[in-house]
Amino acid sequence: MQKKAVKQRNIFLRIRISNSEDLAILEIHDIRNSILIPAGFITVKISGDKGGFLQDETCYREWRKKRLRSYPQNVEEIRVQVDSLLNVTARQKAALITACKRANMAIYHCRNAAVDRAAVATFASGFGLTRLDHHLCANADGVSELAVASEGVRTTYVPYSSRSLSWHTDGYYNDKERQINAVILHCARSAATGGENALLDPELAYIHLRDEDPRFITAFEHPECMTIPANRDALGEIRAAVSGPVFSYALSGEIHMRYSARKRNIQWRDDALTTAARECLTQLLEDPNGPVFHYRLKAGEGLISNNILHNRTEFNDGPGQQRLLYRARFFDRIRTQ
Ligand SMILES: [Fe+2]
Repeated sequence: MQKKAVKQRNIFLRIRISNSEDLAILEIHDIRNSILIPAGFITVKISGDKGGFLQDETCYREWRKKRLRSYPQNVEEIRVQVDSLLNVTARQKAALITACKRANMAIYHCRNAAVDRAAVATFASGFGLTRLDHHLCANADGVSELAVASEGVRTTYVPYSSRSLSWHTDGYYNDKERQINAVILHCARSAATGGENALLDPELAYIHLRDEDPRFITAFEHPECMTIPANRDALGEIRAAVSGPVFSYALSGEIHMRYSARKRNIQWRDDALTTAARECLTQLLEDPNGPVFHYRLKAGEGLISNNILHNRTEFNDGPGQQRLLYRARFFDRIRTQ
């Protein structure tokens, strides 16, 4: 019998894994050659903690080109009409997933505006978002109601006020085990005025920083890049101090960004490159001609995202017009397959 020579080669893989806590490889994709590989034919060496293919300049360049080519030119390109959060058609779901692939976010408009917290959770589960973050201010079901709080613990947190919120990703104060990978914001009622969001895909931020200086990425990957001091109240410590990188990577290659532009209660690594990287990011976020989208959610509209960068302008409630948003945070990422 004739023996076939087996040639060993280095390839860069995007590995799709199961959404459950158990690691299970569902699919292996050779990114450079755009082909699916039968898992049984290869040995896989995983280097997920450093972004895998992002480290290879050729692979990165290809990925960058595709990302920029597919990125929406304006926010209208990621808006999708849905009939009801409880009954999203296959076509509507496909449109939402396409938007998420292009920008890590989609804005839906619900024809049936009668939506409650349970409907948000049901809608989320259709995208593989099931593991909710039951944080301090969430309701028992894990979904928060963002509105101006007049009493209780919520009065101490800016999201529950009418004040503006600076740029951030959600849960930047969570440790790695409780990393927030996806967020849904559903607008039940808009304010009389204000309450607009600015939105940016973290992958665009990554590309911009790497274009400006690849060392900015290294600075933002440092495990002690950004430290959030412990959260304490009169009774003691609510949360211990949390240190971590700005950029980290899933085994499947996706970029996760942890960021807050707050001036107080953030300790940045005291290092010239980190400072320069922060300045570079700030310039991008404030660039009126840059890739940032601006959108004011109306009643019945919502944002589903892989925890993108966002902020909020201040708002004013009017008589019978108290802003109310349902917010659900997940440990899962949006399932796009
Ligand atoms: Fe947020």
